[in-house]
Amino acid sequence: MASLWGGRFEKDMDELVKKYNASIFFDQRMYNEDIDGSIAHVTMLGRQGIVSEEEKDQIIAGLKEIKQEIADGKIIFNVDDEDIHMGVESRLIKKIGDVGKKLHTSRSRNDQCQVDTRLYLRKEIYEILNSLCYLESVILKKAEKYADQITVGFTHLQHAQPITIGFIFMAYFQMFKRDIERLNDSLDRLNYNPLGACALAGTTMPIDRHLTSELLGFTAPTENAMDTVSDRDYSLEFLSDASISMMHLSRWAEEFAWWNSSEFSYIAIDDSFCTGSSIMPQKKNPDMAELIRGKVGRVYGDLMQLLTVMKGTALAYNKDFQEDKESLFDAVDTWKATIDIFAKMLDKTEFRMDQIEKQLGKGFLNATDIAEHFAKQGIPFREAHSIVGHMVKMCENKNCDFEDLTDEDLQSIDSRVSKELLGDISIKNCVDARVSFGGTAPSEVRRQIKVGREWLNSLEK
Ligand code: ARG
Repeated sequence: MASLWGGRFEKDMDELVKKYNASIFFDQRMYNEDIDGSIAHVTMLGRQGIVSEEEKDQIIAGLKEIKQEIADGKIIFNVDDEDIHMGVESRLIKKIGDVGKKLHTSRSRNDQCQVDTRLYLRKEIYEILNSLCYLESVILKKAEKYADQITVGFTHLQHAQPITIGFIFMAYFQMFKRDIERLNDSLDRLNYNPLGACALAGTTMPIDRHLTSELLGFTAPTENAMDTVSDRDYSLEFLSDASISMMHLSRWAEEFAWWNSSEFSYIAIDDSFCTGSSIMPQKKNPDMAELIRGKVGRVYGDLMQLLTVMKGTALAYNKDFQEDKESLFDAVDTWKATIDIFAKMLDKTEFRMDQIEKQLGKGFLNATDIAEHFAKQGIPFREAHSIVGHMVKMCENKNCDFEDLTDEDLQSIDSRVSKELLGDISIKNCVDARVSFGGTAPSEVRRQIKVGREWLNSLEK
């Protein structure tokens, strides 16, 4: 089959070249956007008198039929279609005859593929934003439920200080909040109209790029045609956003895996999110948490792939840029699925407070609180730190807790301290007192939840 661009060619494409060159097998995913872009384009051509009203109507009717036929599975694209742009255009010409040949006036596939990708990505970003907002709503619900429940806070994977479980939830809430803000920000920069940039230098025809921008819901036309056809920054930004967010998801997934381990048993991941072993009958493995942790690697790979494709490419369009799509699609699918599965798994996960409580007595979680307590009573913090350090050593030697130290024990360390001075050093008291802004006290976590909920509600409007 002669190609739509075949005028100056004497030979057909080599079969291997055809296959290697074609993007139809992956870019057909954007057929809706391709046709919407064409409808806007021909509407503008009609308004500008570049095609007649009647021609415009015929072309639009043909395009709409093709859209339906693709949706119904009646059109099966093949290697001769080369890409979605030509796949649609050649069918249009077949369907409505010569008038269909007017569609590609003042347009190139170089700007067309950019319209498609931006429209596609915009739609997917809306969906991902919805998924992230749902995840945030699950986090808020759980944070509320566990606002008072105390667990071990770690640094270096060592017992550090007691914290509330709600506090952990709100830490992740902040990460996904930044992901949402980052993605919204990228969306603002993505939403400019490439249509009418043509091959690289605009056109002599009296087109109206502002009109197509309005019709397609873009903020405005892109400023410079040459930049437009060679720009893939918006995809790179999306892939960066996806990579950062997947990193966040992988961190929580990692915590899920070890919280769920036999050693910890802080949580029991719901059966419906685990798998068994084909040899060990007793096993219930946290595969989803592990897969989430693993899938971040793909998305980083997608980002590196496109960065590498773009590196050192001269202006303007180069065929290298066709390699912008598969990694983008992979990242869209992976990120979206990962958020959805994580949100559902989180919703179904409950903490095993009986197991957690067993750990709260270990590792002198209230050591810092005691030092701060001494400091409040006039002992300089550095000295208080050292006194509590000696108390820890003494407890380790005697194999006991702070509460078991006697007045003599304490005074042998420093004459200023006594059991009375120690006061209430229960873990609960320590947590309740951490009311500094952003701290872990239940009252402070509830404030964070309130602010978080207000922010989320303001987005959903
Ligand atoms: N399939 C191509 C792509 O995705 C469309 C642009 C082709 N342009 C060209 N001059 N060969 O990049």
